Amino acid sequence: MKKFPEGFLWGSALSGPQTEGYSLKEGKSASTWDYWFKENPERFNEKQGPQITSNLYENYVEDCQRMKAIGLNSIRTSIQWTRLLPDGKTLNPQAVAFYRDYFTKMKENGVKPIINLFHFDMPMWLMDKGGWETRESVEAFRFYAQTAFECFGDLVQDWTTFNEPMVHVECGYLQGFHYPAIVDIKKAVQVAYHTLMAHVKAVQTFRKLMPQGSIGIILNVSPSYARSQSAADLKAKKAADLVNIKSFLDPAVLGKHNSDLVELLKNNQLLPETLPEDEKDVAANTVDFIGLNYYQPSRVQAPEKASFPAKTLDDFYQPYDWPEKKINPYRGWEIYPQAIYDVAMMMKKDYHNLPWFVSENGMGVADEERFMDDSGMIQDDYRIEFMKEHLSYLHQAIEEGSNCFGYHTWTFIDCWSWLNGYRNRYGFYRVDLEEDYKRTVKKSGLWYKKLSERNGYEE
Ligand code: NOJ
Repeated sequence: MKKFPEGFLWGSALSGPQTEGYSLKEGKSASTWDYWFKENPERFNEKQGPQITSNLYENYVEDCQRMKAIGLNSIRTSIQWTRLLPDGKTLNPQAVAFYRDYFTKMKENGVKPIINLFHFDMPMWLMDKGGWETRESVEAFRFYAQTAFECFGDLVQDWTTFNEPMVHVECGYLQGFHYPAIVDIKKAVQVAYHTLMAHVKAVQTFRKLMPQGSIGIILNVSPSYARSQSAADLKAKKAADLVNIKSFLDPAVLGKHNSDLVELLKNNQLLPETLPEDEKDVAANTVDFIGLNYYQPSRVQAPEKASFPAKTLDDFYQPYDWPEKKINPYRGWEIYPQAIYDVAMMMKKDYHNLPWFVSENGMGVADEERFMDDSGMIQDDYRIEFMKEHLSYLHQAIEEGSNCFGYHTWTFIDCWSWLNGYRNRYGFYRVDLEEDYKRTVKKSGLWYKKLSERNGYEE
């Protein structure tokens, strides 16, 4: 039996835009997702947009019971900025009532809420002014954070500022996947910097308003593994980890920017615009805990030829197709559970063993109805296997002293996944879009209940 520390958090992660629906109802204004879907529905898988997603807004009371039914003792989800403050200044009473009742129902069902503030959902009114490209976004976000702490701080003690900030930077400003789909590395660095300062200012506000609470940030980690031990490949690996991991983890936990990253940006004439007081604010506002989302590693090699100064990330490192990789056959991503151990030990060694949790880990499956049995239940043994493999490496790291306090899967119910719509299913409950969003527990949900009850699993 693999046992986990007492009080371990067993749960799932969600986000407002991916579950709530009611995207332009009950006073909510448009985020970039609402706007982009209206302008460009064909970009989205099967033209599935953000309007309904998993319709949690209408189902949250029963959904909170469903959380309890599969043993979740904690959930991380997000508030939508555009719901709480539709114009950035005026409080929406319907949003306050909805979120207050939602968080209360979680607690009544024994589910601890961990509430996140930003999950890729930039308000359109702010995007029209330049979004994260402008310094104004820092104060706008700080005000939103303050409002959220004031409205829900009596119900929620554990908060996070951003989910995967490098994803909105890379997808929006380097790869052209998310709105505004700009490809401009200089802008990307500025966007990342303002996001970081928005995080810092939110932490500063939190310390004043909620001295008893805990605050963190959720970062995506894809630790990189070099193609070879050659100096060039190792340099590429180092650059990948600087960009993808240390860019936010160092200032959030250690209170300072990574000096090698600063050097890299400086050499490539990519340093962002800053204010003189920023450094002091970064130093004074470190987090209480970290959430790390892990899905797959990144395999990297040195670029064959690179522009200098760099124009894209490809000038620093390039993907490498590792021939020995094990692939999730239903989604295409690499499965490499050992990386969880590496990440856990990195937290112990390089980040003074700050408390952290696995804030997302999970297996997406396309056409998952093919695994449905006659009773209508998805027999997702592959997902149980996936979790066990990852938990076994996590367990080993905890035994070796890594300060991990929980494991959250992506996700509780099948969710809308941005441009992919409902192509890949990740939930413990299937959501049937054709049958009024009916939820049916999958085999993995029943397994998770046992895992949580026993605080461990049989090998
Ligand atoms: C990470 C993100 O936080 C979430 O929004 C997304 O849907 C999942 N990964 C699955 O790709």
